[in-house]
Amino acid sequence: MTAITVLHPGAMGVSVASSFRTAGHDVRWVADGRSGATFARAAAAGLQSVTDLAAGCEHAELVISVCPPTVAIDVARAVTATGFAGTYLDANAISPVTAGEVAALLAASGATPVDGSIIGMPAHQADTTRLYLSGPVAAGLAADLSGGPLSVIAIDGGIGAASALKMAYAGWTKGSSALLLALFAYAAEMGVDGPLLAEWARSQPQLPDQLEGRAAGVGPKAWRFVGEMEEIASALRGVGMTGGFHDGAAATYAALASFKDASPPPDLAAVVEALRAGD
Ligand SMILES: NC(=O)c1ccc[n+]([C@@H]2O[C@H](COP(=O)([O-])OP(=O)(O)OC[C@H]3O[C@@H](n4cnc5c(N)ncnc54)[C@H](OP(=O)(O)O)[C@@H]3O)[C@@H](O)[C@H]2O)c1
Repeated sequence: MTAITVLHPGAMGVSVASSFRTAGHDVRWVADGRSGATFARAAAAGLQSVTDLAAGCEHAELVISVCPPTVAIDVARAVTATGFAGTYLDANAISPVTAGEVAALLAASGATPVDGSIIGMPAHQADTTRLYLSGPVAAGLAADLSGGPLSVIAIDGGIGAASALKMAYAGWTKGSSALLLALFAYAAEMGVDGPLLAEWARSQPQLPDQLEGRAAGVGPKAWRFVGEMEEIASALRGVGMTGGFHDGAAATYAALASFKDASPPPDLAAVVEALRAGD
């Protein structure tokens, strides 16, 4: 049994924490600073909390960060300030450069960093979600964390490899959603959405069927995707490629940020209206 602190039981984090508990570990989360929604998710999953970050780090051999990508560095810095010297897994959608910065912060304070990324839906069922790990201790950690519904897979390539995999994967899934919705909104703005749907039905029949689902799927999470698209743009620029496409995807998601956590999610008409209105 490993003592684990999953810092933030968000929609994904709570499923990660539950999976590791199912695998036999002692899992806690940090209550300080979190909203009622996080408390409710953690309570529904029956997870035990600790009061603050210092207690969370004192409890744990392994600390796991699953949070909005824009705060990954701040969270890592806060953990180093507690003097934590165990293993630190950052599982966020961040670029390999940001992952390297997180790892350097942790290593400098005596902890062992592991790079991670998550692909799939929150891991409440087996075979839906993968946690990829990379770095010197990734293989051993993957074996330790396996056994719950979350599949844990170590890959080669050192710190940054798991993050690079996520950048490539999400760059397509979330980038293509932004592109599809932006172009449909443009067609609506120009009064040719009907003819576009008719043309797609002839030549790209999969696209009309995807519009409603993608609008509902991205709307409530668009605020978080802004930072993720910026990380992907930065990752591509980091290897000398253009980041412009994902800068545009970030701007597209910024125009949808007002749908944050909307339940029920926005329909296609609401998303198109927000995109036509712009920032
Ligand atoms: N959801 C998915 O389907 C999915 C899939 C693949 C990967 N992921 C990855 O998982 C990570 C989190 O996603 P999620 O869906 O769990 O997001 P989420 O549901 O929005 O949860 C984010 C969690 O982080 C906390 N948080 C928010 N702002 C924070 C801050 N400034 N400092 C510290 N913690 C903060 C939130 O707490 P409060 O809101 O209570 O403050 C919440 O507990 C992302 O990096 C994402 O790429 C998610």
